[in-house]
Order: sequence, then structure tokens, then C-alpha cells
Amino acid sequence: MPSIDKALFQEFEAIVGATHALHQDELVASYTTDWTGRFRGHTPLVLRPGDTEEVAQIVSVAADAGIALVPQGGNTGLVGGSVPLGGEIVLSLLRLDGCEPVDVLAQQVTLEAGVTLARAQSHVSPFNLDVGVDLAARDSCTIGGMIATNAGGINVVRYGPMRDQLLGVEAVMADGSTISRLEGLEKDNTGYHLPGLLAGSEGSLAVITKARLRLHPHLEERCSAMLAFNSVQDAVSATAQLRHSVLDLQAVEVIFRGAMELVSDYISTSIPVGSDASAWLIVEAASTSDPTDQLAGAIDDLGTLVMDVAVGRDSASRAGLWQFREKITEAIATQGTPHKLDVTLPASRLAEFVSEIPQIVETVDSGATTVMFGHLGDGNVHVNVLGRGGLEPDEGVESAVLTYVAHLGGSISAEHGIGTAKKDFLHLSRSEAELDIFRAIKSSLDPEGILSPNTLIPYEHQ
Ligand code: FAD
Ligand code: MLT
Ligand code: ZN
Repeated sequence: MPSIDKALFQEFEAIVGATHALHQDELVASYTTDWTGRFRGHTPLVLRPGDTEEVAQIVSVAADAGIALVPQGGNTGLVGGSVPLGGEIVLSLLRLDGCEPVDVLAQQVTLEAGVTLARAQSHVSPFNLDVGVDLAARDSCTIGGMIATNAGGINVVRYGPMRDQLLGVEAVMADGSTISRLEGLEKDNTGYHLPGLLAGSEGSLAVITKARLRLHPHLEERCSAMLAFNSVQDAVSATAQLRHSVLDLQAVEVIFRGAMELVSDYISTSIPVGSDASAWLIVEAASTSDPTDQLAGAIDDLGTLVMDVAVGRDSASRAGLWQFREKITEAIATQGTPHKLDVTLPASRLAEFVSEIPQIVETVDSGATTVMFGHLGDGNVHVNVLGRGGLEPDEGVESAVLTYVAHLGGSISAEHGIGTAKKDFLHLSRSEAELDIFRAIKSSLDPEGILSPNTLIPYEHQ
């Protein structure tokens, strides 16, 4: 990749202003290491544009000079896609933080890419509306990053992932041109759906600068429950029944034994129910009227499948249960640098998968520990592997786990994306014909490999 000489540096600096062109080591450090600490890159420059026009100018200058960029939002991504592993310029979108007025008539909103999820939530809440995707990184993750990773989170059972919230985008393409379609038309069959293509593109096809999101009525009345199970299969069977019988189901999350012990220690709170269980579900129902009877009735119908139940009706007791799920990622991070393997399994293979994985990991790295939890309503298990003494596990662990996932008919990435962490394993979930189409899309939209060349579909310089 060409280096950045003084003239080019000044050209970039003139676009964003000196205070937003960072190059000193101490100022760029937080932009070059990912949230897990596993992926550490380096960069000559972090650019912090203030609007779409500045983004377009930066991309245009970079394209002319043949310099690659990595778009970055809150840098909470978990697959190493947000950091400059090949010495790329970091294009931080955090200053694009404008929220347009909520369109109450359409129940939609247009947000700039750098708006955090928490800010989006508080922007729409006075209108009794909610963003359909919610996740524990809400205070830092941005709308642009969530679209780029097609983030899932805890409410996918009800509203789907980020792609399903997306009615339109504004984006800067790799040649510096801008596309914009933010009218928010619910029906618009005029050719290819570009927002859908950019959702999950992980910064490799365009820089997202704005998005038009579909909103959902805020459901004030909530009831949460923690259910303890003797076996993983019982938790899987209960999930299927609850999805069938609880019409107002908002979330079905799972915590397996190792994760429960870890998080309970981390938050210094004893496990609320079933201290010797194998798996726990956190289930939430939400509606405009109290859903407690609905949820309680459905749990009763589970009969002996459930060992024990704790119910949270008011917000404090619900938060008391949810902390066991929401604090797991932080709890794992205190133990070292995990390899995070986020996968989906067909419901019929979930129990077998969870039971086999520790043994599969141990065969490759006898000192490794496996911590599992996830979004059971979506068949999504987060497999976290820590090496001995908190060090990274043996490299072969990834291949062993992901090959097993593919063997069971699952996906090697449920919601975190491919990034750089899984790019060598994409063939396990995608056929050669599909990968050819991916490469054709990449080379058509980004022929010079300017955007995130180390992410998803690595760009091969000719
Ligand atoms: P970044 O980390 O900055 O970037 C992620 C990717 O998107 C990179 O490839 C980057 O290049 C690209 N990108 C960022 N902004 C743009 C843009 N404007 N245009 C083009 N490309 C861009 N994920 C889930 O799906 N579900 C969860 O439940 C979940 N929980 C999490 C909990 C914690 C505590 C943490 C730390 C992470 C969690 N994540 C989860 C992972 C993460 O994917 C999300 O936090 C979020 O989607 C990333 O947003 P971000 O703004 O931080 O993106
Ligand atoms: C979660 O569901 O909490 C996240 O995806 C984060 C993680 O996998 O650690
Ligand atoms: Zn998750």
C-alpha cells in the first residue's frame, strides 16, 4: 500500500481540520485495538469527518492515491473488522451523530451513522417508540456499525436483526460518490435492495453515513423470568414451546453452566434459581398490557421440563435477572483474551453441539476453557474459548469448532460477522459459487480494494 506523504496528509487534514486528523501514537491507540484486545493494528492517520460531504472527499482522495480505509464506529465489533490490521487509515464516523426528528406518522427515523444505539433509543422513546435491535454494547455501538455487521442482539425473535429495521441508507461508495435513499417507503420494488446488501457488508462495500430505520411501538408492560434446566435439551425444547405459545415473546436468551458460574462470581450475586442446573433461559414477554399471566401460563405448561423459575415483574427485579446475561461478555474479558466464536445451529443439533464442544476444544488445546451462552430463540450460541492462564488458545481451536458447526449444518457466523477473525473459514458456510458472487460484488463496487481490504472478502492486489 502506498505510504502517506506530507502533501497527502495535508490534503486529508484540510478536509477535516487539524483537530480531527490524528496521528500521534497516544491519540490513535484506542482506534487501532479492538474491544477484545485480540486484534491490534497500526495506522498513520485517524480521520474524524463531521459530515457526509467530508466522508466523500476523504474517500475520493484515498481512492485517487490508492490508500485503503477502515470505517469505524464504536469499535465494539468482535471479529477484528474495525481496526487497521494492514496499516489502513481509520475513518471514524463518531462525529456523524445527528438525529433527525422522529417521523411519528411513518414510525421511522433517519439517523447519522455515528449515533450510538443508546442515543437512538432515547431519541425515539418520547414518542413511545423503540429501535428493534437491542444489545449490551448499546452505550458505544453505532447505527452505522450495527448495520455494517447486521447486528442481532436480544430481540431478534421478535423484530429480526438490523437488516430488518433498515428502510434506506445514505452511503459513500469506494469512488467517493454518494448514494442516498432515505424516503422510508415501506414498499419499493425498484430493483436491487442496496440497503440490504450493505447490511452485513462490514465496511467492505461502502461507508454508511445515514440510515432510515423502521421503529416499533414501545411496549411498557414487561415480565421477565429465569428458568433453570437439568439439561441443554430441556432448554431447547422449552424454547420451542415458548416461541409457540407466548405471542408477546420479546427475548429467549441462554446461559450455560460455565458462563453462569463466571458471571455470578463477576457480579458477586448468587445464582437466583437452580444452582446445580446445566442451563438457564432468560425469557421476556412485552406488551401494552401486563403479559405476566401469558408468560406464567406458558411456563406452567412446560411442566417438569423446568427445574425452577424466578420471575421479575418490576424493572428492578427484571434488571436483577438480566444482569446475569448482559454482564457475561465483560466477565469473560476479565479472564483473558478469548477467541469468540459466534455460531448458529439448527434447533435439532443444538444440544449435541453444546455437549460436544468442550471435548472438541480440549482435544486441540488441553489447557483451554470453553464458556458458552447466547440467543437460544435464534439458535445462536456464543462459544468463547480462553487459553491456559487467560492467554489465547491454540489456533487450531477455531478450525475444530467451526468445522464441527458446518458438519452439523450451522453457520460459522450468526451475528458478529466474518471480519478478519473468520475470513479463512468462510468456505465452511458458503459454496465456491457463492464466494465467486461475493468477489464479483466486491470488485465491482470497490475495484481498487480501498475499503476494509482485510475484512470479509480479503482484497487480492493484482
Ligand atoms: P465497529 O466495531 O466500529 O465496526 C464493526 C464493523 O462495521 C467493522 O467492520 C467496521 O469497518 C464496520 N463499520 C462501522 N461503521 C461503519 C460505517 N458507518 N460504514 C461502513 N462500515 C462500518 N453484536 C450482536 O450482533 N449482538 C449482540 O448481542 C452483541 N452484543 C455485544 C455486547 C458487547 C459487550 C460488545 C462489546 C459487542 C457486542 N456485539 C454484539 C458486537 C458488535 O457487532 C456490535 O456491538 C455492533 O454491531 C458494532 O457496532 P460499532 O459501531 O461498535 O462497530
Ligand atoms: C452477546 O450476545 O452478549 C454478544 O453477542 C457479545 C458476546 O458474544 O460476547
Ligand atoms: Zn450475541
